[in-house]
Amino acid sequence: MNTRILALISGRGSNLAAVVEAAHAQAWKAQWVGVISNRPQAAGLQWARDHGLHTQVLDHQAFETREAFDAALLQSCKALQPDLVVLAGFMRVLGEPFVRHFEGRLMNIHPSLLPAFPGLHTHRRALECGVKAAGATVHYVTPTLDHGPVIAQAVVPVRAGDDEQALAERVLQAEHRLLPLAVGWHVNGELALQSGVVHHRRGAPQVLFFNE
Ligand code: GRF
Repeated sequence: MNTRILALISGRGSNLAAVVEAAHAQAWKAQWVGVISNRPQAAGLQWARDHGLHTQVLDHQAFETREAFDAALLQSCKALQPDLVVLAGFMRVLGEPFVRHFEGRLMNIHPSLLPAFPGLHTHRRALECGVKAAGATVHYVTPTLDHGPVIAQAVVPVRAGDDEQALAERVLQAEHRLLPLAVGWHVNGELALQSGVVHHRRGAPQVLFFNE
C-alpha cells in the first residue's frame, strides 16, 4: 500500500523538492497527499504546484492564538489522511495536540547536530561557539522544540573563514541528501523505534559524512 505523505513548509521548499525527486527517482511506494504552507508567499508552494502537488495555505497570522492555528492545521492535515507528515523547513512550533496526534509519523529536519543548537539562528550560534563540525538532523518530533528520536544525521566541516551563509549553504547540500534518505527509510518500513532510539532494521549507517 502506498504511504500517503504530507509536507509542511514555510519557505523556498528545497528540501521538499529533494524528497519529491527522490521518491520519483527511486519509485517509492508513496503518494503525495499535499503540501501545506503557513506562509502564503512561500516559494515552495509554486514549486509544488508546478509539479502537480495539491497545495494549501494556512496563514498563521490570520489566527488570534497559537492554539487556534494549531487546531486548524491539525484539522487540515487530518482531512488529507496522511501516513507520514514531513516538516520540510516548517518554521512554526507545533503544539502538543498536533504532535501527539501524529506521533511516530511526524518527521522534522533541523540544520544542526541536535541536541546542539535547537531553534533559530543555528549557523550563527555554531560559528560563535567555534564548533568544527556542523550538520543536520532528521528526527521524529516530540512536543519539545527540535527534539525527538534521531533518525539520521549529516556531519559537515566548519571551515576557517565561514560566514553564516557559507555554512548554511554547505549544510543545506547535506540536508538534500539526508532528508530523502530518512523519509525513504520510513516509507520502506526500515525504521524501528525502541525506547526512544531509532534503529535501521538492516543496520544501514545513520550518519553521513561530507568532507569535500
Ligand atoms: C532548512 O535549512 C531547514 O533545515 C530549516 O530551514 C531551511 C529550509 O529550507 N529548518 P527549504 O525551505 O527546504 O529550502
